[in-house]
Amino acid sequence: MANIILLGPPGAGKGTQARRLVEERGMVQLSTGDMLREAKDSGTEMGNVVAEVMAKGQLVTDEIVIGLIEEKLAAGGEGFIFDGFPRTLGQADALGKLLAKMGTKLDAVIEMQVDDEALVARITGRSTCGGCGEVYHDQTKPWPADGKCEKCGGTDVKRRADDNEESLRTRLMEYYKKTSPLTGYYYHAGDLFTIDGLAEIETVATSIARILDQQG
Ligand code: AP5
Repeated sequence: MANIILLGPPGAGKGTQARRLVEERGMVQLSTGDMLREAKDSGTEMGNVVAEVMAKGQLVTDEIVIGLIEEKLAAGGEGFIFDGFPRTLGQADALGKLLAKMGTKLDAVIEMQVDDEALVARITGRSTCGGCGEVYHDQTKPWPADGKCEKCGGTDVKRRADDNEESLRTRLMEYYKKTSPLTGYYYHAGDLFTIDGLAEIETVATSIARILDQQG
């Protein structure tokens, strides 16, 4: 099964598409954002440091996130979807080395292109199910009328502390300064595919499926 990176700014739809790939293809989603939110909720010293950095919309250190990814990869599996990782050139180099050590490699880096205007609306309207993590949006994918999650029936509606306009501005700046250079890095490695992330969720899913099917 292919190993892929979903690359794109906050709100591009990485998590939404990663969850579909897990359900439809049995791939393994590795979201550093989710891992860091778990660490934050653990109340450990590392968790408290992470909480402050994330609330501001800044990037957590390479050392911490590479350590988290290394731990997950060591647990084994195949068909990894890297969601929100790598976000710096240092993280990209580290990922290449970790995969090589496992005797595997990246098959595709899928850049989801969106514009900043759309991101504000996506981020400020987002909620997730506290039970299963299903992603909703106030306008484009509202919660079912009975208030129960369509996937697990849960009723715990969660909104992220960093899903506000101020934090989003910092998250976008971090993306353009530190993460967007990865498109050149992966283009030169021959792994980059670019898709329209502004299309409807189904259409984006079809574009990703086409790339995965090409990779065999
Ligand atoms: P992380 O959790 O990775 O957040 P992010 O990259 O900011 O991305 P998001 O989860 O906000 O967006 P998404 O692209 O997954 O969009 P979604 O599918 O939810 O990181 C959070 C923080 O953790 C970072 O700021 C940083 O501090 C830290 N961190 C994480 N990884 C790190 C790393 N590697 N290094 C250092 N620090 C790290 O969709 C958004 C909304 O839009 C939803 O409501 C959805 O329903 C809707 N939507 C999705 N697709 C569509 C569509 N096609 N059309 C209409 N609506 C759509």
